[in-house]
Amino acid sequence: MQLILIITIVVLSSGCVLTYNKTRDQQWSLWKDTHKKNYSTAEESVRRAVWENNTEMIEEHNLQADLGIYTYWLGMNQYGDLTVNEFVQKYTGLIGNMETKYNQVRQVFVSNSTVSLPDSVDWRNQNVVEAVKDQGGCGACWAFSAVGSIESAYAIKTGTLVSLSEQQLVDCSGGQRNYGCGGGTMDHAFVYVITASGIETESSYPYTAVDQTCVFNPTETTVQVCDFVDIASGDEVALQQAVATIGPISVAIDAGRSSFQFYQSGVYNEPTCLQRIFELDHAVLLIGYGTDGNHDYWLVKNSWSTDWGDQGYMKMTRNQNNQCGIATAASYPIICSTNTQPVQQMTSDAFYMISNMWLVIGIYCFVKTCYDL
Ligand SMILES: *[C@@H]1O[C@H](CO)[C@@H](O)[C@H](O)[C@H]1NC(C)=O
Ligand SMILES: *[C@@H]1O[C@H](CO)[C@@H](O)[C@H](O)[C@H]1NC(C)=O
Ligand SMILES: *[C@@H]1O[C@H](CO)[C@@H](O)[C@H](O)[C@H]1NC(C)=O
Ligand SMILES: *[C@@H]1O[C@H](CO)[C@@H](O)[C@H](O)[C@H]1NC(C)=O
Repeated sequence: MQLILIITIVVLSSGCVLTYNKTRDQQWSLWKDTHKKNYSTAEESVRRAVWENNTEMIEEHNLQADLGIYTYWLGMNQYGDLTVNEFVQKYTGLIGNMETKYNQVRQVFVSNSTVSLPDSVDWRNQNVVEAVKDQGGCGACWAFSAVGSIESAYAIKTGTLVSLSEQQLVDCSGGQRNYGCGGGTMDHAFVYVITASGIETESSYPYTAVDQTCVFNPTETTVQVCDFVDIASGDEVALQQAVATIGPISVAIDAGRSSFQFYQSGVYNEPTCLQRIFELDHAVLLIGYGTDGNHDYWLVKNSWSTDWGDQGYMKMTRNQNNQCGIATAASYPIICSTNTQPVQQMTSDAFYMISNMWLVIGIYCFVKTCYDL
């Protein structure tokens, strides 16, 4: 009798079975099916516990959002089995170099207070924004951001919206100091497309989400880039003017929060977000702006499929001290006209010395190991 009691106490206190909330069994199965998760038995117990914790955190946040304490809501998604530490750790990294040697000769877009701007802009309404894509388990957000602004710039210039190749940038722009699925920057991507004299379409050079040997075929190029422009760093007014008057803009952000991991709708407001250039870890496409109630927002397109966020999109807080660094490293490409020549890319050794004065960083975004846990 006493032995049974002791065994019962030992089993109960080991906690290995009891960490589960039985009433969530069905929800868990559904989530695994939806996101095609297949774990070993040992792994499943860990992932279930993390998922339950995230589920409870999301429900708690949303109760408070309903009460008006937050301006945005969270939702369970494909990243539900990752703790915030795993999420942050696995998709932020220090590689590459944000300040390129090419920046020395760049024109910089500055704001002009005499230009009047519309209250809201959404480039999707002009049919110049490609459908939301999915970078999968490859840290190529920089390629998706750069390709996104090239696609839109080309559509605005020619009236033709065509999906272009991220994989070409992943495989072929190592010479411009990009690192494929290991990270890169949008300005380096633009320089590559200028140097390569063009970029292929998504269908002629499809995305595989892994690093491969470059198989770029110059005869297949559809779009040529001749130059690119950096927005004055940290200037949200300049950024607003650029997205209103030029088109979608490539931007870098700090995305390293569980609130970002599970964002679903509303105006994302994360006061703990960082904005200095070496603190940014993700890249997205800015496609407009607006105001909900009295909350100014930036409209952002992500590359984590339509399962993430608001059908793949997000509203981020605008005009609050450059929150999440959205105006810190923004830029856009200039598509070649029939009579324009690519701007020569200066490569001076002196710049490497200058660049080292900046903290060496890159945009790592989201890596394979996340999926291999
Ligand atoms: C178990 O999950 C349900 C929702 O399915 C929730 O209402 C309840 O609070 C959870 N119980 C515990 C102990 O977390
Ligand atoms: C899960 O993985 C196991 C072992 O790799 C395999 O036998 C099984 O068919 C997989 N199940 C599903 C639903 O993919
Ligand atoms: C559960 O989530 C909270 C935040 O909601 C976090 O602080 C805690 O570390 C998490 N625990 C586990 C085991 O993941
Ligand atoms: C600002 O815009 C006005 C007209 O929109 C233009 O005339 C002026 O040259 C611009 N100023 C600068 C500094 O670009």
